[in-house]
Amino acid sequence: MDATALPHEDLAALLKWYVDHGLDETIGEEAVDRFALPPPVAVTPPSAPPRNAAAPTPIRAAMPPPLARAPVPLESPQLVEDAREIARRCTTIAELEEAVRAFEGCALKRTAKNTVFADGVAGAPIMVVGEAPGADEDRLGKPFVGVSGQLLDRMFAALGMSRERDLYITNILFWRPPGNRTPTLAEQSICLAFTRRHIELARPKLLVLAGGTAAKAVLDTTEGIMRLRGKWTTLKLDDGTEVPTMPTFHPAFLLRTPASKRQSWLDLLAIDKKLKELG
Ligand code: URA
Repeated sequence: MDATALPHEDLAALLKWYVDHGLDETIGEEAVDRFALPPPVAVTPPSAPPRNAAAPTPIRAAMPPPLARAPVPLESPQLVEDAREIARRCTTIAELEEAVRAFEGCALKRTAKNTVFADGVAGAPIMVVGEAPGADEDRLGKPFVGVSGQLLDRMFAALGMSRERDLYITNILFWRPPGNRTPTLAEQSICLAFTRRHIELARPKLLVLAGGTAAKAVLDTTEGIMRLRGKWTTLKLDDGTEVPTMPTFHPAFLLRTPASKRQSWLDLLAIDKKLKELG
């Protein structure tokens, strides 16, 4: 049915119904029946070169080849293993970014507009890991650019730091969950495989985990942010690196609960002190 033929109040009710169900953005002019599309291929097996074919000249030697395996369902634990293996083979942040952008094993990618990889300075002394891109981040393809990102910038500006010079910012998820729903554990585990490698390659002096979801996922704990925040812990990575890590409140939580800003300020002071101690 042509929706424009509906009376105005019915259209308004339809719009409200969409928003209530998490559909808060239009991403195309034409509706796409995704149930009618063929299932996505999680990992592309490389095609075998013809026998005796001359070796092709590599365009870019650095990028590891994709894993050779038949497609697997999008909730399969195998995808976590694939993500770990792909991430492990990346030796630079640029390779990792390319691998994340090419990865088809996370269901969130199907509904997101953009892959949101990182912002700030790769190699900066402080790396901030948040939860997931929201609508603004999805639209612009950069983490923490909406209202909570602006608060994050103001918090670090109070210490004389900026994302242009002192911070490297990312999330545990590279794609926006539709309607900002809570990401499933499978989605988190898949993206986390890349994020852990991201931390190894960025080699920050300090890691800041913004919010309970990021803290629980990265530290692999069930403790809540109320207990975790403000306490230094050491993140041990697969390559043997150990990073001093501070879980703190998510800026979105601070916007809802301004009284908690006092505790956040104490966390920021501790981060500043630690950084000065580390030189
Ligand atoms: N919240 C997050 O955790 N990350 C973003 O990038 C934006 C909002």
